[in-house]
This record gives sequence, structure tokens and C-alpha cells, in this order.
Amino acid sequence: MAEQNRATVAVTGVTGALGGRVAPRLAGLGVPQLLVGRSPDRMPDLPGAERRGPAAYADADAMRKALQGASTLILVSGHRTGRRLEEHATAVEAAIAVGVDRVLYVSLVGAAPVATYLNARDQWATEQFLAGAGAGAGAGIRYTVLRAGFYTSTPAALADEEFVVSGPASTGRAAFVTHEDIADVITAVALDQGPRSEHDGATLEITGPEALTVGEAVTRIAAATGRPYRFEPETVEEAFARRWRRGMSGEQIETWISWYQAIERGEISAVTDVVPRLTGSPATPIADAAWWPAPNTARGVA
Ligand SMILES: NC(=O)c1ccc[n+]([C@@H]2O[C@H](COP(=O)([O-])OP(=O)(O)OC[C@H]3O[C@@H](n4cnc5c(N)ncnc54)[C@H](OP(=O)(O)O)[C@@H]3O)[C@@H](O)[C@H]2O)c1
Repeated sequence: MAEQNRATVAVTGVTGALGGRVAPRLAGLGVPQLLVGRSPDRMPDLPGAERRGPAAYADADAMRKALQGASTLILVSGHRTGRRLEEHATAVEAAIAVGVDRVLYVSLVGAAPVATYLNARDQWATEQFLAGAGAGAGAGIRYTVLRAGFYTSTPAALADEEFVVSGPASTGRAAFVTHEDIADVITAVALDQGPRSEHDGATLEITGPEALTVGEAVTRIAAATGRPYRFEPETVEEAFARRWRRGMSGEQIETWISWYQAIERGEISAVTDVVPRLTGSPATPIADAAWWPAPNTARGVA
């Protein structure tokens, strides 16, 4: 193994979809890791990896303890709580306090102060905090923002029991990307462990190979899975009313409708070369995704 790959990488979110894919990749490459999270008992058992915690992002003491000895922190954004900026900022400050050299923050495409997708707003706020921490922390912590594209799996998870995906989006497009490609890019950036990296201070938008309408994405998922997925566009008014009748909370309704609206407004449509440039392989077309979730399993859907 090259000397440059030996610094210890702390990885959060390892009980989840992204961190749970990054940690095995790093373990397979012989990178020493600290797996940091709220439930060490649910973390994977990986060679060269030490489970640390319990440590929630908002718990400064626990995060400082868990991050002791790490050079790089891969900070996977936490669940939306209404306090996500504070939680992420506390985690970053803990990293700075114990001498972590750089933070790779896993954000979201479309992150902006007035992003249509509600989940993208506090991602942007965290990015700003991180840039400020990098500029103002004495020696300055190095950081890279990795904006993950919308998952290829999400349209399948949004389908109802009849495999129908409904939402207020018709002509807008999104460059859906697989979890595997996102994990490969995060891993590649984490491995770039020299004293300086071309990714320092960069924002990398990790996208799939083409921008698809939700209808096109659903058609391709149907072909790939052999299941009768179909897309039914609805008006914003129909979208609110139907979700309310299904018993979703107001917050869930607003969040999921904003997901479709962000696509409709073209905020997620950019296609970048980040996956091929950093991994050496083309981005995976939606039809070739490695797995599909069951219908009606999107987080926050009643
Ligand atoms: N790109 C997309 O389309 C997309 C889709 C969905 C979500 N996201 C965003 O990307 C993030 C990661 O995605 P994912 O698919 O890996 O999500 P996921 O499967 O829900 O996993 C989230 C991980 O973050 C951990 N976590 C959440 N809040 C935390 C906190 N306050 N303190 C410590 N750990 C915390 C969770 O730990 P526990 O096991 O303890 O809960 C879990 O390991 C999500 O949290 C969300 O912000 C992106």
C-alpha cells in the first residue's frame, strides 16, 4: 500500500446507505478507519476499522472523543431535524479541536440558500460554515464538499404499492446517480491524502451520466426490474391533496413535493464529469443500478 494511503480516516453514517458503502471500500484498500456514529453495535465489522461512539453530531464531547486520531473526516450529512446546521457545525468543530486535517462533507446537489428542495437548504448552510471554518481556523482546516446527486433508487422507493410514482414534475430533468458511484467518488477523494489535494476547497457535484425526466427514469426502472412501474404526473394541488388523504404529515408533504419541483425547475439537471474523472469509469446509467428498493420505502413517506 502506498504511504499516502495510511492516514486514518474517520467515517460517519456507516449504518446508512452512503457511509455503509464507503467504509468497506476504504477497508478493502487497507485504509485505517474510525467508524463514528450513534450506534456502534450496528456498525459493520471491517478490517482495520475501529468502531467509535456512541457519538451524535450534536454531542461535542462524544464527537471529540470519537474523532481522536483521525486525519480526515468523511462527514455524511445527518437526517433533517431542523437543527442540522448546528449538528454539522458541532461535528466540524469537534474535528478541528482534535486536530483533524481535512473534512470531506457529503452534501446534496442543488444546495442553495433558497433551494426548491427543502432538504438542500441546510446543506448549503453547512457548506458555508465549513468554508468559514477552513478560512478562519488558524492553520485552516482543509475541506471538500461532495454534493451527492439524487439517487437512482428514489423514484422506485417513491412508488406506491401499485408501482405508481406520482408527482408534480413533467418536463424537468435530474441526473440521477447510483449510491455506488457516489461512494466511489468519496473514496477516491479520501484516498488523495497528500499534504495538499486538488480537491481542497472544491465543490464536486456527483451526478449520473444523463439528465432524465421522472417519467423517463420510471420507465427505465420498469424495464430494468421487470416490474410495472409507471409515472403519473399530477398538479401541485393534486399532489398536496393526495398526500394529505394518505395521512402524510405537512412536513413530509412539503418536502416530497419540493423534491419533484426542484427537478421540474431544472435545479438537479446538471450532468458533470466528476464520476468518470475521479473513478476512471463512466457514471452508471439508471438501468444498470445494482439494486432497487421496495415500493413505498422512501424516508418520510407515510
Ligand atoms: N442524494 C440523495 O438522493 C439523498 C437521498 C436521501 C438522503 N440524502 C442525504 O444524504 C445523507 C446520507 O444519505 P444516506 O442515503 O446514507 O442516508 P441514510 O441511509 O439515512 O444514513 C444516514 C446516516 O447518517 C447517520 N446520522 C444521521 N443523523 C445523525 C446524527 N445527528 N448524528 C450522527 N449520525 C447521524 C445515520 O445514523 P443512524 O443509523 O444512527 O440513524 C446513518 O448512518 C442523508 O442523511 C441525507 O441528508 C441524500
